[in-house]
Formats: sequence, C-alpha cells, structure tokens
Amino acid sequence: MRREAKRYTITAALPYANGPIHIGQLAGAYLPSDIYARYRKMRGDDAVFICGSDEHGVAITLRAMKEGKTPQEVVDYYHKLNKESFERFGIDFDIFHRTSDPLHHELAQEFFLRLYEEGKFIEKSSEQFYDEEYGLFLADRYIIGTCPRCGYERAYGDQCEKCGSSLSPEELINPVSALSGKPPRLKKTTHWYLPMNEYEGWLRKWILEEHKDDWKKNVLGQVKSWLDQGLQPRAMTRDLDWGVKVPLPQADGKVLYVWLDAPIGYISATKAWAMENGKDWKAYWQDEDTHLIHFIGKDNIVFHCIIFPIILKAHGGYILPDNVPANEFMNMEGEKISTSRNWAVWLHEYLDEFPGKEDVLRYVLTANMPESKDSEFTWKDFQEKNNSMLVGILGNFVNRVLVLHQKYFNGVVQPIDMEARSEGGRIRGLDLDWGPEGFARKISLELESFKFRDALASLMDVARAGNKFLTDEEPWKKIKEKPGEVGEILHIALQVIANLAIAMAPVMPFSARKLAAMIRLPEEDLRWKNLGRYDLLPAGHQLGRAELLFEKIEDAVVEAQIAKLMATKEDGKLETANFPPVREEISYDEFMKPDIRVGTILQAEKMKNADKLLKLTVDIGVETRTIVSGIAGHFDPADLPGRQVCVVANLAPRKLRGEVSKGMILMAEDEEGRLSFVAPAENFPNGAIIR
Ligand code: 2FM
Ligand code: ZN
Repeated sequence: MRREAKRYTITAALPYANGPIHIGQLAGAYLPSDIYARYRKMRGDDAVFICGSDEHGVAITLRAMKEGKTPQEVVDYYHKLNKESFERFGIDFDIFHRTSDPLHHELAQEFFLRLYEEGKFIEKSSEQFYDEEYGLFLADRYIIGTCPRCGYERAYGDQCEKCGSSLSPEELINPVSALSGKPPRLKKTTHWYLPMNEYEGWLRKWILEEHKDDWKKNVLGQVKSWLDQGLQPRAMTRDLDWGVKVPLPQADGKVLYVWLDAPIGYISATKAWAMENGKDWKAYWQDEDTHLIHFIGKDNIVFHCIIFPIILKAHGGYILPDNVPANEFMNMEGEKISTSRNWAVWLHEYLDEFPGKEDVLRYVLTANMPESKDSEFTWKDFQEKNNSMLVGILGNFVNRVLVLHQKYFNGVVQPIDMEARSEGGRIRGLDLDWGPEGFARKISLELESFKFRDALASLMDVARAGNKFLTDEEPWKKIKEKPGEVGEILHIALQVIANLAIAMAPVMPFSARKLAAMIRLPEEDLRWKNLGRYDLLPAGHQLGRAELLFEKIEDAVVEAQIAKLMATKEDGKLETANFPPVREEISYDEFMKPDIRVGTILQAEKMKNADKLLKLTVDIGVETRTIVSGIAGHFDPADLPGRQVCVVANLAPRKLRGEVSKGMILMAEDEEGRLSFVAPAENFPNGAIIR
C-alpha cells in the first residue's frame, strides 16, 4: 500500500522558447497538468505547479540564425508571449520561470560539478562532425541526414521526427550541416558522458517492477524498449556558446547539454518560487513524502524516465518521480501538428480570435486528450462538442433551472424535506449516487489516475442526470397545482448545479467561477470536499443573476478557421522553415558580379548516356548558346521550348559529357528536391538584365 503524499510537486514540460504554444502541447502536457494541479489545490493539498521556458539548445540558436536575431532576443520574445498566453488560458502555474535566469545557471552548474567531482561522468575524446565554414561542431539539430531506421531524409543528429528514433550524429546517412548545407568533416573534441548503461538494472527494478501497476502503459512500454535495446553513455556537454557554461577551467567554449540543464530547470524554478513565497524548496524536492509528477508529451519520455532520474540518483538527496503520465500526440485535421509547416492552432491566436471561449478549447482538448493513443482535433468537432455538449447539455440544464427558478421563486431557494425524498444515498427520480462510492468519488479517482477524459465524461453524466430529472419531473406542468413540489424539484436541481460548479472547476475554471457567481456559491465553498453534498445551497439562499454559460458556435466561425488553415497549407508549400539559414554576407560588389540575363529556351534534348542532363539551346538576346542542365529528371524536354528562364551568363564554361556548357539556368528547389524555373513574372525581352 502506497503512502498518501504529504505534498505534490507538479511539473509541466518546459516549452522551448523558440515558438508559440499550440494545441498539441496544451493537450499533451499543459492542460492535464493544470487540471491535476487545480484538483490537488481544491482538495487542500500542498501542491506546487512548476513550469518555465526552456531557453537553451540548438533549436533556439537555429531559430535565431534563421530570423537574424540573437538567441537572447528570440527567447525573450517567446518567453513573454508564452507566459502571457498560458495565463490568459488559465494554465495556473505557481511560477513560469526561465532557464536563462542566473539562479538556474548556478544550480545547473552545481549539479554538473557535483557529478563531476564524484566521478559520475566519463571523460572521452572523439572525432565529431564539424562545419568548417561556420567553425562549429555539429551536435543534435545542427546536423541533418537520412535516418538509418526509416530512411527519412531530414532526420536530425539527435532524433528522427518521422519514426521517433533517438539518434546520434554518426548514425545519419549522408550527413550535412544544417548551417552550411555541406557535408561536415571530423574533428577531435572532448566531452563528459553519463554512463547510462550502469543504471540499467536499477531503472528496470524501479520502473518496470515497482511502478508496473501505477504508470501508464505507453510510458512503461517506451521505457522497456529503451532498456531492452541497451543504454549507451551519453554526452552531457556540447561545443556551443549558447547555454549553461561547463564550470571547469579546461572546458572553455563548452556548455551543458540542454537535456541536462532543462529538467534541473524544474528545481531552479521551485527555488525561485519558494524564495518569493517564503517556502522551503527542499520540502518539494527532497522529502520522501512529496510526490513528484512530471506531465509531458511522449517525445520527452526518455528524458524524464531515464536520463533525469539517473542524474537525480547520481547526485543523491533528491526524490524521484512518483509518476510520469506522458500523453501521446494530438493530430489536427488529419495531419500531424507541425510547427515548421505552420499546421497548428496557436494558443495566442485562439485567445485573440475566441475571447471568452477559453473553456471551450479546454473542454474540447480534454475530451480528446491523447491519453492512451494519438487523437485528433478538428474544427467541426470543436463546434459540435461546443454546441451539443456544452450548450446542449451543461449550459441548457443550468439555464433551464435558473430561469424557472427566477420565474417561480424570484431566485430564492425553496425548502425541502430531503429525508422524505431520498433513500440509500439517492434522491428519488434523480439518477445520481451521492453516497461515499458515488459520483464524487468516481470523478476524484479518475482525476487521481490521470484519466481526464473519463473525469470529464463523468461530469457530463451529472449534467445529463440533472437534465433528465428536470424533463421527467416537468415542474412547468406542476407549478399551478403543486408549487411546493416544484420548489423541491428546483431545490434538488440547484444542488446538482452547485456540484457541477465544483466538479468542472479543474477543467473549466472560467465557467466554474461564472456559474458559482450565478448561484452565489461563496468562493470558499468551491472546494473539492464539498463535492457530493446536496445541502450547498440552503433554503432561503438568494441566487444571483442568470447568464448564459456557453454560446452556440455558428458554421461561419469554424469555416473561417478551416479556410485559414487551408491558406497556410498553400503558403506552406513555399515555406522556408526547414531550409538552411542564409549564408554568409557578401558585399554589394560581389553581388554585382554575376551577369544574369533573361533568355528563352529554343531547343531541349536529352543527352546521350547521361540520364540527368538536358542539352538546352537558349537565346539570351545578345547571343544563342548551349547550356547543359541537370534537370532531366524533372522536366520533359518536349515541354521546354518557348519557356523563359534566367541565365547566369558570365559563368566560366564547363565541359559536361563532352558538351561545352556556357552558363547556368536558375532554379528554385524545395525541401523535397522539386525544381521550378525562375523567370520574369511576364514575358520579357531576351537579354534583359536581372539584378
Ligand atoms: O520538448 C520540449 O519542448 C523540451 N523543451 C521539454 C523540456 S522538459 C524539461 F526537461 F525541461
Ligand atoms: Zn526515422
């Protein structure tokens, strides 16, 4: 039997501060953690809810290079945007800290030094990929190549996003630098490795045996497959200048691996919160009676179940996670959510476009939470759930009761002989169990076991029972002859509503507060221990003004969202996200060197024994020339005569398969290697100059 926790440390994955938050992240980590933390706090448990921006790592530096900004500028921008968006959405962190904070750097360095001094790392020199042009070692996302497992051509040095495998740079086939786009060379460097293999037995026992019944199947499954494959030592340092500096004199130009420093960010955030609130941070991280719970998406499982626990264990003195309820992924409109393809609903945009509808999205994402398998968000389903569930069931029940009650009794709660109306934990005519094993306990257990979809369904069942009760009792037919009975019926319905206000607060905090105000349920009664009570609104209690809890969403609204998405899809084809960043600066004079002319293809034919090459005859106004171009795989020569192109006319002639090629045809190339001619937007005289 596990001991009841004295305290809860609840963490949500620190989002990279390199982009806005999208619904997939909300459904994966932020909503479930927020629901759970709100539930714990409503119960009166000592719980702290921790998050912050993950501001290091190659994802940030790459973003900065693409945008022509410094990493600090990038993280400052997104930290602020995400912090505000979470607040507006009611994700109620006790602190939203950041890993660029000096407090965090200090703590992360302290961790590293302690492990270093106690000999927990292996120091190792090896040859690593290096980009000559940029003078940088290529770790993690700086290197791109073909995945050895699934063949995906744009896998990163740390992970293949197609098949999810964790990779190391030397496994990639045909690796190229994400910076220069060129194949890297090997160069010697020294790093500190965590010998993860030494912890295998311990992890197996701690997770696969001790937690086999209380951790989620998807999490246990991933951990088992990692352990079965065998753990390898993993470098905990990188040759970069953005990050937490390695606190050793011989480690100039090196920083901590982002996945070493980021989870320590949970601890530094707790420290910062404790300092601001007169608390003792150690109680939340070092007391055996504290339950540490990490909410994450499935791509973070290895880091939270294997690497971070090893670090905590190697350091000593820290508690280990009690549970890591990782979610699977949420897809959208039939496709994977993708930041780089802009295929997502962005939180800050939703908040701007749907003011006052925070709870609608919270409801829909919870109802579709990818708890045990990938799930799907569609705008049609969003509309349908709002209209049929929130408006049709929950809102309708509340509204019917409050309007009738106002009309018949001026909003004053009527007396009832509860004993006469109830038996065995039930009120006659109402399909709800108020007893110790009833709906209150059911919802509690579902929340405690991270079954948020079930908890939400149970909540809706309460509203359904209320609706049915009202429909069966038909107070509107009885009001003339039996006003006393109608008073009792509405009294009962009001107790159901008070319970709904409590039960919905973790998932829909805005509506819960609004509802509590409508029935004048005092703030201090909005506590979990009151769930299951049917005396929350006593006879004589005056209710407040009834308002609509939810509103219907019209077709036009969701159609506009779908149209917006389709437009991104079109743009997406031209999008730059995965292309290499802009190359090194050139001077104006250098720019003026190529002589680029408008030309028209006169003839095109395949070259003998060269299946990639076409021989083109091109009129460039000042002369007609032969150009050999490697585009045979992309175009049918028969389609080319008459097409306008741009030609680099002063390129030194080259001999290709015996044919002298004078100049080069300009082409645009996308991520998949498709080619498109570059030409003036309208027909133009041959020989015209491009600049
Ligand atoms: O996947 C991510 O977005 C990471 N930034 C999560 C970090 S979680 C924790 F370890 F900080
Ligand atoms: Zn792959």
